[in-house]
Amino acid sequence: MAILELRNLIKAFGGLRAVDGLSLAIEEGQILGLIGPNGAGKSTAFNCIAGVYPPSSGEVYFCGEKTNNQKPWDLCRKGLARTFQIVKPFASKSLLYNVMVGSFSRTKKRSKAEEKALAVLKSLHLDVKKDMNSGNLTIADRKKLEIGRALATEPRLLLLDEVMAGLRPTEVDEMVAVIRNLRDSGITIFLIEHIMRAIMALSDRIVVIHYGKKICEGTPKEVADDERVIKAYLGEDYGVS
Ligand SMILES: Nc1ncnc2c1ncn2[C@@H]1O[C@H](COP(=O)(O)OP(=O)(O)OP(=O)(O)O)[C@@H](O)[C@H]1O
Ligand SMILES: [Mg+2]
Repeated sequence: MAILELRNLIKAFGGLRAVDGLSLAIEEGQILGLIGPNGAGKSTAFNCIAGVYPPSSGEVYFCGEKTNNQKPWDLCRKGLARTFQIVKPFASKSLLYNVMVGSFSRTKKRSKAEEKALAVLKSLHLDVKKDMNSGNLTIADRKKLEIGRALATEPRLLLLDEVMAGLRPTEVDEMVAVIRNLRDSGITIFLIEHIMRAIMALSDRIVVIHYGKKICEGTPKEVADDERVIKAYLGEDYGVS
C-alpha cells in the first residue's frame, strides 16, 4: 500500500500556483526523491503534506486516510514527521532537551522521553554531545539534530527538506549513510535535495517538478537521462555514468 499519496495537489498563494496539480505515491519502505529548480514548489508540497498549509485543492492521503486539513501535531501522532529547510533548534538548550521535545509527543513520562532521546542521539552519533548547547553545533550536527527531533516522534514517514545543504563532501557521505540506516530500520523517506550525487545514491525513485508540475518520474538513471529534466534542472553538463 502507498503510505503517502498526492492526488492533483494544488497550492496557490494569491495568483501563484506554487504546487500545480501534483500527483505521486510512495510505497512503504521506499525512499522517494523530490528535485527541481529553486522555487519549483518542493517545500510547499511538503508543507501541504505535513499540515502546515491546507491545500487549495486536490487530496493528500497518509496511510490510506485523507488528511487534507489535519494539523501538524495530529499528523505527527499518526506517524508523519518532517525537518525544515531552515533549521531552528532551541539554541540555548542542550541537544538532549531538543530531542526530548520530540519524544514527548509519544510519552508524558520524563524518564521515557529521555531514554528515547538518548537512543536517537546515539543512532546519529551525537550522544557524546548530548549536553552541549545546540547553538554551538556545526551545520552538519545541526542538520542531524533536526533529524533527531523528528525521529524522536517515532515516524513511519519522514520528510527531509535539504538536510545536506551546506555540508562538506565527507559530511554528505555520512548523512547518506544515516538516511540509509533510517530506511533500513523501516522508516519510509521522502527527500528533497539539491546535491545530486546524494539523491541519486539514495532514491528508489525520483519525482522532478518544475513550476509546481511534475515533469518526470522514474529511477535515478531514467530521470538523469531525461531531456526535460536536463533542460529544466540538471543542465547539459550533467552526466550519469
Ligand atoms: N508562504 C508563501 N507565500 C507566498 N509565496 C510563497 C510562500 N511560500 C512559498 N512561496 C512561493 O512559492 C514558490 C515555491 O516555493 P518553495 O519554497 O516551495 O520552492 P522550493 O522548490 O522549495 O525551492 P528551493 O529549492 O529554493 O527551496 C516560490 O515562488 C515561492 O516564492
Ligand atoms: Mg525549499
